[in-house]
Formats: sequence, structure tokens, C-alpha cells
Amino acid sequence: MSSFIGKTAIITGGASGIGQRVAEDIVAQGGNVVIGDVNVALGKKLASKLGSHGSFVELDVSRGADCSLAIETAVSTFGGVNFLVNSAIRMAAKPLIELSETDWRKTLDVGLTGTFLMSQAFARHLNKKGSPGAIVNISSIGAQHPYGGSGPYSAVKAGVTLLTEQMAIEWAEHGIRVNALAPGTIETPLTTYLKDPEVRESRTRAVPLQRIGQPADISNGVLYLLSDSASWVTATTLTVDGGVTKTLFNYLKGRGWS
Ligand SMILES: NC(=O)c1ccc[n+]([C@@H]2O[C@H](COP(=O)([O-])OP(=O)(O)OC[C@H]3O[C@@H](n4cnc5c(N)ncnc54)[C@H](O)[C@@H]3O)[C@@H](O)[C@H]2O)c1
Repeated sequence: MSSFIGKTAIITGGASGIGQRVAEDIVAQGGNVVIGDVNVALGKKLASKLGSHGSFVELDVSRGADCSLAIETAVSTFGGVNFLVNSAIRMAAKPLIELSETDWRKTLDVGLTGTFLMSQAFARHLNKKGSPGAIVNISSIGAQHPYGGSGPYSAVKAGVTLLTEQMAIEWAEHGIRVNALAPGTIETPLTTYLKDPEVRESRTRAVPLQRIGQPADISNGVLYLLSDSASWVTATTLTVDGGVTKTLFNYLKGRGWS
């Protein structure tokens, strides 16, 4: 039976890409979703598509007051909250030598501090109610490999990994599981570079499973980590990348020993 029937999830960055697909899949499995995003037009459009199981709240995850409002929205609309997916990201893709202090700070504010603030608001609420819950933070394979030219992105995502693990060990006693999922290249509005056929081809060839990832590939992993099937899984990162991060030796000559 679905773990989502009658349950409610807040999804930050839920108006687009991976967050959008997670929202759609949770509703398809009988759950409710609060879509929290700075993109009001897209968020409202998705919420109305999801009907009575979807709600939108204008949310800037870097503001603690907004995060509390997202919890209040879940409670007032659906009577409570059980799951949180942190998917919001702000990009400042530049070589580090060119990156401004403002871009550095704002990107950390959204990607790392925002993950902390939203998770803390969620955990405080569940503790007050004495209820269990589960969080999935969307990290990246860029957390394990420095993504040159992406500005603070890799530092943000590496921070998300450790933050995930610390929240998991601190909140396990309250029945809150916290995991991360590290996607490889996924076709979303964030990765418009895939429209360039040359880039697309080369990224496809680099992946052992020979295709670019889709939001559904990530959503399947997120729903597993949130579900009862993962009831003994916490403090871990699930990499979903078609195998690309394990290909280092494919690029080194001299693999034959005979
Ligand atoms: N697409 C990929 O290839 C890929 C790979 C690895 C990791 N990821 C991660 O997956 C997550 C989702 O990415 P995506 O590809 O779906 O991107 P996306 O651009 O489609 O979605 C990101 C959403 O975050 C929202 N957002 C931006 N600032 C916000 C803020 N301050 N508060 C709340 N929402 C805010 C945007 O409005 C947007 O709707 C991100 O954390 C990203 O780093 C994506």
C-alpha cells in the first residue's frame, strides 16, 4: 500500500523540474503537497493542476519566517505535515575567481541555509506534535566532485550532505529520518545546456546507462526514501546518476594487465 495516502509533503522549489515531478508523483500516490517556491506563477499553476491535493505558498527558503509559514499552510490546508523535500536552488555559475561576494552569500543562503531553516521548522513542528516524519534533501553528484565553473554549487551540496547526516543523527530519537539524494545530469529548466546537441550527445555518452536522467528517475528515489520501505534508512545519500560517477577508469589508458 502507498505510504502517501492521506499524508502531506512540503516541497521547496516544487514549482519546477525535480520538485514538480515529486509533487505530481506524491499526489498520484494519494498524498497532498504544499508547493513552496519563489516562482509564484509556476507554483500556482502546478497547484491548480493538482486540484484539492495541491496547495501553493510563496516561499523563500532563505527566510525563516517563510519556512514557518509553509508549515502553517500545510497544517491549515491539510491538517498536518509528514514529509519534507528540499529541492530549491539558486545558481551563480561562474569561475570562483570571478564570483562576487553577493553571489557566494546568496547561493549559500538558498541552497544550504535554506535547507537548514526549512528542515528545522519541520522538525520543531513534528517534535511539538510528537509525530514522526521524513526529509529528503536534493544534493548532487557535485557534492562529491568539484564542479568547475559552477560557483559555490559544489560547496553548497557538500554542505547539504553533512547537514543531512547531522540532522539524521540528532533527530532519529524523534522518529525523523533524514536522507539525501544526489542526482547526475537531469533534464529540467536548470539544465538548458542540454538543448545544445553536442553537449547532450557528449553527456549521454559519458553515462554508462547511455541516457540523460529525467525528473521521474529522481522522484522514484525520493519517494522510496520518504516511504515506509525505507523505515531503517537514515543519514545516507542515494546517488542516482546512471553510473557516471564511477567511470574514472574509463578515461585512463592502460587498463590491461595481461
Ligand atoms: N537538474 C539537474 O541536472 C540536477 C542535478 C543535480 C542536482 N540537482 C538539484 O535538484 C534540485 C532541483 O533542481 P531542478 O533541476 O529541478 O531545477 P529547477 O530550476 O527546475 O527548480 C528549482 C526551483 O527552485 C526554486 N527556487 C529558487 N530559489 C528559491 C528560494 N529562495 N526559495 C524557494 N524556491 C526557490 C526555483 O524557482 C525553481 O522552481 C536542486 O537542488 C538542484 O541543485 C539538479
